Amino acid sequence: MISGEDNVNFFWYAKYCVRLWRIYPQRYRAFFQLINERKCRIFLEIGTNNGIRARQMIETARIHHSLTSVQYWGVDLFEDLTPDLLSAEYAIRPPSCMTVTRMLEKTGAFTKLFKGNSKEMLLRIRKEIGQVDFIFIDGGHSIETIQSDWDNCQHMMSKNTLVIFDDYFVQPSDPVKNVGCNQLVDRLDQSEYAVSFLPIIDEFTKPWGILRTQMVAVHRT
Ligand SMILES: C[S@@+](CC[C@H](N)C(=O)[O-])C[C@H]1O[C@@H](n2cnc3c(N)ncnc32)[C@H](O)[C@@H]1O
Repeated sequence: MISGEDNVNFFWYAKYCVRLWRIYPQRYRAFFQLINERKCRIFLEIGTNNGIRARQMIETARIHHSLTSVQYWGVDLFEDLTPDLLSAEYAIRPPSCMTVTRMLEKTGAFTKLFKGNSKEMLLRIRKEIGQVDFIFIDGGHSIETIQSDWDNCQHMMSKNTLVIFDDYFVQPSDPVKNVGCNQLVDRLDQSEYAVSFLPIIDEFTKPWGILRTQMVAVHRT
């Protein structure tokens, strides 16, 4: 638990309650509950995409913290997402970096986006970012990229940092058998890291069958 300022901001708390009620996909409900319960203030998201999750993280932090103290750091390929990477990373296409930068500037919080491949970018920026409260690993979905993201993220973790991996595929069948965080999560050393599966599994109908996905939370023991 990160220590927050004492007062709860009821405007942002009400907005948060409405978000929990309406959110889609539903697995994000537990995601925002954790941010609120742990009073997270400094965020790193790998895979910012359109910035909507970023804005929602900042708004959730405002329940417990003043706007000037909230920080959001984001990494995404943005315009550098080539058709080859789109398929190798099992990704979805983001808007331009400038569009997302402008949208996040309107939150009034400190926000900084880095355009590039997280495999090289995180190594360059992890000193600048320092330790964060909350890391969302949701960029490239290839096993190699997730492993590299995790390796870099460990340098930005304190004993209180919570890391959320998206896309742990439940009973994965062919197209997603070799992507996602399953292999990494299944091999984590549980004497060093506490691993818990967030409660909601989303299901999506795909041309090849049903895709079932959930999030995984990890912190140091
Ligand atoms: C599933 S989307 C992220 C969704 C967002 N986190 C959310 O919750 O709404 C994945 C994003 O990761 C980005 N991405 C994919 N591979 C990447 C890589 N190797 N480095 C950086 N970003 C990457 C894509 O451009 C895409 O915007």
